[in-house]
Amino acid sequence: QQYDFGLIGLGVMGRNFILNVADNGFTAYGNDLDEEKVNALKEEGGDLNKVNATTEVATFVKALARPRKIMMLVPAGKIVDTVIEGLLPHIEKGDILIDGGNSFFTDTDRREAHLSEKGIHFFGAGVSGGAKGARKGPSIMPGGSKAGYAAVQPIFEAVAAKYKGEPCVAYLGPKSAGNYVKMVHNGIEYGLMQLTSEIYDVLKKGGDFDNDELHHTFQKWNEGRLASFLVEITSEIFEQEDELGEGRLVDQILDKAKQKGTGKWTSQNAMDLGIPVPSIDIAVSMRELSALKDERVKADDLYDRPEVEMIDQTVLEKMAEEALYFSFIVTYAQGLHQLADASKEYGYNLDIATIAKIWRAGCIIRAGLLADITKAFQTDAALPNLLLSSSFVDKVKGTVASARELAAYGAKNGIPLPGLSNSLTYFDAYTSSRLPLNLIQAQRDYFGSHTYERLDREGIFHTEWES
Ligand code: 6PG
Repeated sequence: QQYDFGLIGLGVMGRNFILNVADNGFTAYGNDLDEEKVNALKEEGGDLNKVNATTEVATFVKALARPRKIMMLVPAGKIVDTVIEGLLPHIEKGDILIDGGNSFFTDTDRREAHLSEKGIHFFGAGVSGGAKGARKGPSIMPGGSKAGYAAVQPIFEAVAAKYKGEPCVAYLGPKSAGNYVKMVHNGIEYGLMQLTSEIYDVLKKGGDFDNDELHHTFQKWNEGRLASFLVEITSEIFEQEDELGEGRLVDQILDKAKQKGTGKWTSQNAMDLGIPVPSIDIAVSMRELSALKDERVKADDLYDRPEVEMIDQTVLEKMAEEALYFSFIVTYAQGLHQLADASKEYGYNLDIATIAKIWRAGCIIRAGLLADITKAFQTDAALPNLLLSSSFVDKVKGTVASARELAAYGAKNGIPLPGLSNSLTYFDAYTSSRLPLNLIQAQRDYFGSHTYERLDREGIFHTEWES
């Protein structure tokens, strides 16, 4: 028997993805070095004619129908190269190899160049939605070989999440477009998570919200314009009892956030492109700051904090909802701005509306807002920044006052709200026709003869500044 689809890496994501493939009527074969994982999949799959697995690469490859469609779901980095090298002696011209992990985009370009010489269709496809998404329908972001994608398109469209019946997968562009889009997805994810955690903090400290109240507030928000996966799970997190102790689990979790690198890569690459994404940058910095727990504990002892001036819960809840909505918009705007610029720089030819469309369900940053974002870019595909879309002006105008009030409140009361503040500052700067950076140009010219341009006439100028 020849199977329709092969998957290497039977960790939680891989196992769930392959079971999803089988649920959708395709036969699938798994491969992992770990025998326990192989056996676990065979058992869970139930029928070996539908889902089978092996630890042997040669057996795995032989079991697949030609052209072979093989997806890797293994941790990013060297291991991807090792898996590819292990496969190469067994696969042949015309076979399709997909990297479904969070590989760095330049690694994908390098691998594609290497594999296309051998006639292998290789492409990166970001998969988002965590373990549950992989099982029930993730958002899939493929790029690279178009012919390769066409061969797996029916499988991907069947397994992907559906938004009003439309599959959350689409061919995004050549080369590493799929991994790049997934990287920025994760950057936005970092931004939204940081903002949510700040709002949690301010509700707790400024309004004395307990976990039940936080649960209800986020639950209510999830029924409104903030509807999103992250707001939904946040509401559920506050309800979770602690099995190892008293009270709610959230209160016992160490406040040091880990990271695997995709948010940092987004920030780093935005710097390379010259595109400002401060809401994402600060989210990365805050994870780094959170890791300095011991120093934070010492510093907390050295400095006094202002006494928090409490706010009425109803007033605070409304202000927080508006501020969160505002800063979510500004964060998406920055990530999408980066994508638009990267598209030109790397020749991805991205259609931002298509990206927003496949993010409407399945992925971690799915949100009601993405339907509006999709429409904005469908109306104007060349929109450089969401904030320039006429359909967003009223949404922003109606919420920015609360963002200002809350950011000021945080500053005054010693509650760190850096994601909110950065989003607000980005907004204020991006919407300023005149910034004070004329002074920086003057300083550069003063000390280094770096020259400057003028508002009132063309040309490059230098002044012998009088000292
Ligand atoms: C997704 C997620 C996922 C990512 C985790 C962990 O879209 O399903 O982005 O791909 O691995 O969110 O990321 P960090 O460990 O860096 O927080």
